[in-house]
Amino acid sequence: MQPERSCLAIVLAAGEGTRMKSRRPKVLHQVAGRSLLGHALSAVAEAGADAVAVVISSERPEVGTEALKLLPAARIATQHERRGTAHAALAAREALAAGHEDVLIAFADTPLVQPETFTALRGALAGGAAVAVLGFEARDPTGYGRLVEQGGKLEAIVEHKDATPEQREIRLCNAGLMALAGEHALTILEAIGCENAQCEFYLTDAVAIARARGLDAVVLTAPESEVQGVNDRAQLAAAEAEFQRRKRHAVMLEGATLIAPETVFFSHDTQIGRDVVIEPNVIFGPGVSVADEAVIHAFSHLEGAKVGAGASVGPYGRLRPGTVLAEKAKVGNFVEVKAAEIGPGAKINHLTYIGDASVGAAANIGAGTITCNYDGFSKSKTTIGEGAFVGSNSSLVAPLTIGAGAYVGSGSVITSDVAPDAFAVGRGRQVDKPGWAKTFREAAAARKAAKKAAE
Ligand code: UD1
Ligand code: CA
Repeated sequence: MQPERSCLAIVLAAGEGTRMKSRRPKVLHQVAGRSLLGHALSAVAEAGADAVAVVISSERPEVGTEALKLLPAARIATQHERRGTAHAALAAREALAAGHEDVLIAFADTPLVQPETFTALRGALAGGAAVAVLGFEARDPTGYGRLVEQGGKLEAIVEHKDATPEQREIRLCNAGLMALAGEHALTILEAIGCENAQCEFYLTDAVAIARARGLDAVVLTAPESEVQGVNDRAQLAAAEAEFQRRKRHAVMLEGATLIAPETVFFSHDTQIGRDVVIEPNVIFGPGVSVADEAVIHAFSHLEGAKVGAGASVGPYGRLRPGTVLAEKAKVGNFVEVKAAEIGPGAKINHLTYIGDASVGAAANIGAGTITCNYDGFSKSKTTIGEGAFVGSNSSLVAPLTIGAGAYVGSGSVITSDVAPDAFAVGRGRQVDKPGWAKTFREAAAARKAAKKAAE
């Protein structure tokens, strides 16, 4: 990165996106729990952009709203007519005129470009190039702009529809995004005309214009998987698959064991510590961190949760937003936890719902315990003290406090606070009737026999 060079990133997000067949703008669809636009914004920010302009279409103002939510300092520029990539970039004219040293142009529908790639394009500008483009070897180059080189130098980019048959043989294609030296960016963009049939202003013409002015244009390359764009739902799924492949790999290289990596799905922001074991079929929604040596057993679903060191979740565990498991806490099978802090070493092993609660260290919550936190209007809190023991199949009607070290008898419905070290039971008292069952059986059998005889 060149922190000493100022950088403007222009993120083009004014596409039609009609092939998504969606009411939602294309760039607001998600990969790994983050919008395509969010991926692009985060990559340019990580590459050191200190100003970001997002070009949206006047028909899709919600794209601007999302951009400002993710990056309040972003400038929103509106492209009123869709007249090509250079026309779109020029919608950010004001930002361009501010005189940044580097200008990055990114596509909001290309979510997998790594920050390092943008950094490398900036590096080419620092090395004296006026234009740095990103190329890739396309398996099928149809539809892409071709990079035309002469004597090892980039001469021009020719769009597929304007290319000669010989140019169409070129497999080195334009990924789309590029970097322009700030001192030339505005004049180059303004010099781009629309000689093509549709009168579209092609950003790609920046190369030929720079070359005609005796300026340098260079090509950097990236794997095709990094520059794949999203135009329809199938490509959205392909981008998701690539993101997951990368994230799984990174998580494993950081010291976590994934028994069947291809069945584990991460969010863009999932944090996994060392010596964590993740069993098959686990899904992470946004906002999850898992500390060292924790185990996430099979078929668990986690979102907005912090899992402490050495803690254990599942199999079939569900952690919802606001869950914090302290170290060595245990949340077992068919247990749902929401907005609750579970203390160190506490155990909630089976078939339980704990919501809007705090559970003290080493407390034991029996199978089938339910915090009754909602009365149809508002949520109330349950506090369970350290070392408390809640017997199986108890309903804890919030608001409620169960003191440290207290016992709750199995099958209770607890509606008022339990003092520390006390015992509380709230259920019908057991009635025993010796011999009742035998008498009942004999009478019932006699009735049945009499009925049969009468038939
Ligand atoms: C572009 C490149 C092509 C490259 C390909 C890679 C140009 C002229 N062509 O073609 O060389 O191989 O990407 O995928 O740049 N956009 C706007 N306003 C517009 C037009 C486009 O905001 O008026 C935005 C789109 O939302 C999209 C990006 O610019 O994010 C690319 O536009 P698109 O029409 O998809 O360009 P391609 O024809 O794919
Ligand atoms: Ca495209």
